[in-house]
Amino acid sequence: MNETTMEHHANANTAGHTRPLAGRHVMVVGGTSGIGLAVARDVASAGAEVTLVGRDPQRLRRAAGSIGGARQLVGDLHDASVFEALFDALPPLDHLVITAGTASLKTLRESTPDDWRRVAEERIVGPLAIVRAALNRLRQDGSIVLTSGLLASRPMHTGAVIGAGVAAVEAMVRALSLELAPIRVNAVSPGLVDTPLLDTFFGDGKHEALASAAAALPTGRIGRPDDIAQAVRLLLTGGFITGEVLHLDGGARWA
Ligand SMILES: NC(=O)c1ccc[n+]([C@@H]2O[C@H](COP(=O)([O-])OP(=O)(O)OC[C@H]3O[C@@H](n4cnc5c(N)ncnc54)[C@H](OP(=O)(O)O)[C@@H]3O)[C@@H](O)[C@H]2O)c1
Repeated sequence: MNETTMEHHANANTAGHTRPLAGRHVMVVGGTSGIGLAVARDVASAGAEVTLVGRDPQRLRRAAGSIGGARQLVGDLHDASVFEALFDALPPLDHLVITAGTASLKTLRESTPDDWRRVAEERIVGPLAIVRAALNRLRQDGSIVLTSGLLASRPMHTGAVIGAGVAAVEAMVRALSLELAPIRVNAVSPGLVDTPLLDTFFGDGKHEALASAAAALPTGRIGRPDDIAQAVRLLLTGGFITGEVLHLDGGARWA
């Protein structure tokens, strides 16, 4: 193959398989803060129309204002029944991104069956309900991105319950990539990322805890919300990526 032919093939592949975000409709569940807000900002800056979902109208308004405007829907992962009605009123959707989640680390001895059920609702029932509600609205060349986390791959002694929840997300993604094809289904799995979530984790000791975590990582730093948004953009636009879990942990699984 000569150089011109190779270039022609490269261009044809790029045109055929990457899906630009301009003019696409992207929903971000959990888009009022941290990773979800960074995703919303990133796709909006690429020209997408954004719908944000969160629990609090004021936080939704503030987030929408900070990215130059977005449709705002109130919804809670713990009240899965609302999502069918929310989606019915929406224009067709190209991509659904679910980053919503909390993190309460407890040992098995400290936690109660109610804690376990809450995690199952947040990580399994809520996301499944949203994905199912979205199916009537999602375009066939669209995609879904869910959120797992480092605890699915690297255990810690307070992580059995959340670890089980996020590991379930990874199993879900692999099976749904088959069931929902040609809609593509992927996940990101963040390690430590500096977002408001970590304030609840570390409290006053956050600064020192993050500095020492960063020093232990091959990257020498913890993640920024934009690191994850960049990976989400790859999953949304990469027409050949499905059933994949993209780990963004600065090498934490191996350190
Ligand atoms: N940051 C990390 O180090 C890290 C590491 C591993 C995994 N993760 C995962 O990454 C995701 C994003 O985390 P983040 O760090 O960006 O957290 P964050 O800054 O606290 O943002 C969490 C988002 O989730 C929404 N949310 C929480 N519970 C919800 C519910 N029941 N229903 C609907 N929305 C809900 C919040 O919206 P409202 O409060 O406005 O409703 C907010 O937009 C989470 O699933 C988290 O577990 C984060």
